[in-house]
Amino acid sequence: MRTIPDSPPLRYSNTTRVLHWVSAIMILSTIPIGAIMLREGLERSTQDLLFILHKNGGVIIFALVLARLAWRLVSPPPPLPASIPDWQHRAARLGHMALYAMLVVMSVSGYVRVRAGGFPVEMLDAIGAPTLVPRSEALADFAQSVHGYARFVLVALIVVHVGAALMHMVRRDGVMRRIWPPVGG
Ligand code: HEM
Ligand code: HEM
Repeated sequence: MRTIPDSPPLRYSNTTRVLHWVSAIMILSTIPIGAIMLREGLERSTQDLLFILHKNGGVIIFALVLARLAWRLVSPPPPLPASIPDWQHRAARLGHMALYAMLVVMSVSGYVRVRAGGFPVEMLDAIGAPTLVPRSEALADFAQSVHGYARFVLVALIVVHVGAALMHMVRRDGVMRRIWPPVGG
């Protein structure tokens, strides 16, 4: 019997793929920088540099998340290959939404912690952006706890996401090719 071959798997747009990989690199650097900058015994100048990279990198990640969500409305994800079971469609959608949500929680709580504590965000201060958050130690402490706890949720989601991606890579089921290479292909 003649079988009809599957149509080739569809890719995310170039813009989506570039945004995904630039964000991934930034997030995977921002997390260890955040952890290292709080270590005891660091030289003051090193710590200052890591704080500057972390705070401003976090603001750029936030801008990238907003750009990704806006672009997603213009260019929605292509349908998954027909071989992928329904529960995996739902799990992927839920996982992706949770990743976006936790990135927003991390960026906003980090920003509030810094501004409510009266500290600078160099990149935004340089362009004269309003701080938007009142000075308040209580608010700064609350935002610090949110930032500290939410990071565990974000890291857990990233581990599951990358684990699922590796599983699809091994199975060669066409899912990895939706997001790789970052451009063209
Ligand atoms: C998605 C973006 C972000 C991620 C993934 C992230 C991640 C982290 C991590 C892993 C830590 C270490 C927490 C610990 O070890 O207790 C941390 C600490 C910190 N982050 Fe972020 N961060 C992000 C955005 C931001 C932003 C936008 C700011 C400020 C503008 C910021 C300010 C801080 C500060 C001040 C700390 C130290 C908190 C403390 O004193 O305990 N972060 N962040
Ligand atoms: C910090 C790291 C990462 C974050 C936050 C992240 C986040 C996301 C998000 C939100 C999507 C959904 C895009 C959309 O539909 O709007 C996505 C798709 C995808 N990501 Fe990541 N990603 C990260 C790292 C990685 C890595 C390291 C890999 C591979 C090893 C990967 C593989 C994929 C694949 C294969 C898809 C397409 C899934 C599908 O078509 O359903 N991601 N990622």
